[in-house]
Amino acid sequence: MTTVDASPATGAALPFPPGFRWGTATAAYQIEGAAALDGRTPSIWDTFSSTPGKVLGGDTGDTAADHYYRMAEDVGLMKRLGVSDYRFSVAWPRVQPTGRGPALSRGLDFYRRLVDALLEAGIRPVATLYHWDLPQELEDRGGWPRRETAERFAEYAGLVAGALGDRVGSWTTLNEPWCSAFLGYASGVHAPGRTEPEAALRAAHHLNLAHGLGVRALRAALPPSAEVSLTLNLHVVRPLTDSAADADAARRIDAVGNRIFLDPVFRGRLPEDLIRDTAALTDWSFVRDGDLAAACEPIDWLGLNYYAPTVVAAAGSQAPAAEPSPSPWPGAGGLVRFPPPPGPRTAMDWPVDAGGLYELLTRLRDELPGVPLLVTENGAAYEDHPGPGGEVRDPERIAYLREHLAAVHRAIRDGADVRGYFLWSLLDNFEWAYGYSKRFGIVHVDFATQLRTPKDSARWYAEVIARGGLAP
Ligand code: FCB
Repeated sequence: MTTVDASPATGAALPFPPGFRWGTATAAYQIEGAAALDGRTPSIWDTFSSTPGKVLGGDTGDTAADHYYRMAEDVGLMKRLGVSDYRFSVAWPRVQPTGRGPALSRGLDFYRRLVDALLEAGIRPVATLYHWDLPQELEDRGGWPRRETAERFAEYAGLVAGALGDRVGSWTTLNEPWCSAFLGYASGVHAPGRTEPEAALRAAHHLNLAHGLGVRALRAALPPSAEVSLTLNLHVVRPLTDSAADADAARRIDAVGNRIFLDPVFRGRLPEDLIRDTAALTDWSFVRDGDLAAACEPIDWLGLNYYAPTVVAAAGSQAPAAEPSPSPWPGAGGLVRFPPPPGPRTAMDWPVDAGGLYELLTRLRDELPGVPLLVTENGAAYEDHPGPGGEVRDPERIAYLREHLAAVHRAIRDGADVRGYFLWSLLDNFEWAYGYSKRFGIVHVDFATQLRTPKDSARWYAEVIARGGLAP
């Protein structure tokens, strides 16, 4: 058991272990803007957001939080927060506009400047290679359901590592491949907006393969000290009742939501029950010899993004249905329902349930012994309005963050090897299909003027970091 008793040195009632990584997270398309600048070509998100009806209010990432121009100011904000780490993503179409061939130096320059500014500020860069912005040209050739995209990804990973590997020591291949595969190709609420369940399963496999080939490309280009990782949004699945039918519903969602990634990446195999559940859609013959061994390349830590748990029930039971249609759950659609749990909610209508984060971290403690964990995203959207003096009071966000950090603390106390916490998000930003209507930042952004105003939660987080933990 790790010692995390009250620390007389810092005054924290819930101190985190020495060396704990305190960070914030963002993603390229959500903050950068400058969508057509310096040789960047459209990604699937540019195409999707400019298609009428796909994103709330017709919002696009064309300007976003203008971070491409305000990078120095944003690094200054992080320096004042006192974070040790910053998790950002590299826009593939900025660096390799067609998804093949040599890197574009002008595109890489932006990330070189960002990394230099971070190092200068004493902040460790944590680079994610793919946070959903596939070059449109690769989607036109078939996208993630096509095997070639995994090979293209490995080439791109090697290019970026070759350019930044001397200064970036912490790398993540993919962010939330579940969303890329199932929101992108099954329910279609994310780019590229396709609703083809069989293609979504192919996409999931090729994302696992891309991850593994990407790990190999990174290892080949990086010094041995570099850390290589993957970030998953694992679902904390809660059956509504203890009936056998609800347990089976939970099993199905766990298979196509979690084990579809965990088993290939950590055990080099596909879950047998997933193959059975999806038999009417595919025979999985697109999985070639050696693919699962490639997906299972060892990594240095697993990143977890957690926001809320998922309550499930068998479709036959009395639970009210709340399943989006078409379903993002191939093999479970029509058989499983998602009853909304009672209790407080964020502006995303997501339940507030910090116990789910504890459950997730302790599950992985048991299932993946020896694999260090980082919470690479956690945070909440609320309706934030600047007051008359410009101040932004966000007590609900502070309460959310405090509860979730306490859950991380509890998990560490109970033996989970959690090395860091990255708050989503540094800035209000383009929240995918919700456009600019949902604010996750601890820094408020006025999208008309691009004025940044730290919210109360930013000051609160800075105090937590300075103290090394939560106050009494
Ligand atoms: C995650 C995404 C991130 C952000 C949060 C709210 O699924 O990785 O980009 O949109 O949700």
